[in-house]
Amino acid sequence: KRFAFPVAAGWETRQRTAFLVRKGDEVIALDATCTHLGCMVRPAFAEGASASKLGGAPGAFVCPCHGGAFSLEGEPVKMPVTKPLARLETRVLGGQVQVRA
Ligand code: FES
Repeated sequence: KRFAFPVAAGWETRQRTAFLVRKGDEVIALDATCTHLGCMVRPAFAEGASASKLGGAPGAFVCPCHGGAFSLEGEPVKMPVTKPLARLETRVLGGQVQVRA
């Protein structure tokens, strides 16, 4: 699931995009900013689909700028990316997922 969150940028507030990924009981939040040169990565499958829909795809998240790819956990799986997507801290409270940005 894609979501946006505000971040301070000088005197302004900008929106950043991230993805919530549920794997079993674990929920992780990944910043959608590519760690190569900062483009926005996209899911390689329809949002809300289960991980089994990935099939033979090289990665769960792909970058449109230079073709890099990341696993469902945000690990780099295709060059030129070499660093994982940034993880945001999450917790589940009262049945709701909270993300610390
Ligand atoms: Fe994402 Fe280059 S900015 S692969």
